[in-house]
Amino acid sequence: MAGEQTMKRLPPVRQRPAWAALEAHYRKVSGLHLRDLFAADPARGERLAVEAAGIYLDYSKNRITEETLKLLVQLAEQSDLRGRIDAMFRGDKINVTEKRAVLHVALRAPRSASIRVDGEDVVPAVHQVLDRMSAFAERVRGGAWRGHTGKQIRNIVNIGIGGSDLGPVMAYEALKHCSERTMTFRFVSNVDGTDFVEATRDLEPAHTLFIISSKTFTTLETMTNAHDARTWLLTGLGGDMKAVPKHFVAVSTNAEKVKEFGIDPANMFGFWDWVGGRYSMDSAIGLSTMLAIGPDGFQAMLDGFRQVDEHFRAAPFERNLPVLMGLLSVWYCDFFGAQTVAVLPYEQYLKRFPAYLQQLTMESNGKHVTLEGERVDVDTGPIYWGEPGTNGQHSFYQLIHQGTRLIPADFIAFVHSLNPLGRHHDMLLANVLAQTEALAFGKTAEEVKAEGTPDWLVPHRVFEGNRPSNTLLLDSLTPRALGKLVALYEHNVFTQGVIWNIDSFDQWGVELGKVLAQRIIPELESKEEPKLGHDSSTNTLIRRYRKLKGAAS
Ligand code: F6P
Repeated sequence: MAGEQTMKRLPPVRQRPAWAALEAHYRKVSGLHLRDLFAADPARGERLAVEAAGIYLDYSKNRITEETLKLLVQLAEQSDLRGRIDAMFRGDKINVTEKRAVLHVALRAPRSASIRVDGEDVVPAVHQVLDRMSAFAERVRGGAWRGHTGKQIRNIVNIGIGGSDLGPVMAYEALKHCSERTMTFRFVSNVDGTDFVEATRDLEPAHTLFIISSKTFTTLETMTNAHDARTWLLTGLGGDMKAVPKHFVAVSTNAEKVKEFGIDPANMFGFWDWVGGRYSMDSAIGLSTMLAIGPDGFQAMLDGFRQVDEHFRAAPFERNLPVLMGLLSVWYCDFFGAQTVAVLPYEQYLKRFPAYLQQLTMESNGKHVTLEGERVDVDTGPIYWGEPGTNGQHSFYQLIHQGTRLIPADFIAFVHSLNPLGRHHDMLLANVLAQTEALAFGKTAEEVKAEGTPDWLVPHRVFEGNRPSNTLLLDSLTPRALGKLVALYEHNVFTQGVIWNIDSFDQWGVELGKVLAQRIIPELESKEEPKLGHDSSTNTLIRRYRKLKGAAS
């Protein structure tokens, strides 16, 4: 197994002593109510909080005691979390199924750092790409880079999917307040033609620059959209192929394919196989982000990432934000049987943050076998989902408050609004605090009755409480703060993956559907009636679609 020289072979999760201790402990504490835990310890809200790298995490409203924390930290130690963190930062090939190092942390390492992969220091190459990106971004933003007809670039369209889209979209939305407002940014990902058509319908080709973002430069959706973009541009500019290099740049690890597409390799911004797609928003995949917020803003974002990296690497587990969050997720997922984690940003600019986290968390930890290929003996990878508050309060919060399922939630809030407007921000923050209070403490039948509620209505108006949450409080949503938040979740995911002893950095589960789609596409397109060899459901659906679209004879 690649990487085995540095990674201890771990016993199955259930066989680690701390796991058995946690099971026994769970039986003792699962019935405790947060009301009682707070009543018994008036300082709980101050004690169970950690501040690091400018992030304040209040985790006191979790169903834990001092003993829970002690045992979870022991579990982390028995899972060799320290060794695995060191292995990642050292550049060991901890993505064992792809035999790759996992070095998104090198993307934000300072110039003075040295991180070796196969004997080669990767830091100089990281900074060389960052420098090229900065020079390019300055030229485009300043108007020195002109389109084929001499016009200034006003529109940037990023074409990519998964990690080559979700990070750029999320970051653009998150940092819109400090983006270059005279420019238009669009993102095309879906193979559904609507995405491309809607994204470009009001743009002028002469003012438009496409960034084709794809680690592999083979992804069906991205390559299909990239070809559409080239046709769209050439149609708009009179068909002169010389226009392409002025209006297309690429971000990829695959220089050969980029060249084949017709993009000048001088206009390709590279990254490396040790950057996973879902961990790539701070690599050249972030070119659209840099064009939007400028090189200094991008650098500030990288600084934010780096501060949390350093904290994750050095802080003791009991005061380590990502470690604590990761361990709490394991606690709810495996002991309480919670299936999901809600992420609820009270910041409108973070509206795409939950969608971004879905790939980060679920493509990473949606695995059913260990690093050694054995079935994991506990549940892994909770489902992450969410929406910005307060909107969610008027839709799905009902279920979190009174449903039958336990849904741990991360509330994310900022002290300062980027758009101070009257009383809005105090109202927004009051809602964060009110929700976490209501979830934890609820409202008893006695309290409901005391309000004069008729007996028959009382059960409907009771809030059981004891619903756990974390509250993350930061100063304001700057580029630096965004970097910190993303790194926090990256390392939270890492912590969970180490406990489960899974490969958080491969994604074999996306392959089968891709292969089958390649088989079905010609069956849908063929003029002749195809010979179908699928199951009866798939065959019937293919025939029906062909008939209705008018392809069948
Ligand atoms: O299909 C999943 C995936 O491989 C993701 O992991 C990745 O982020 C996305 O596709 C896009 O891949 P690429 O950047 O190579 O086009």
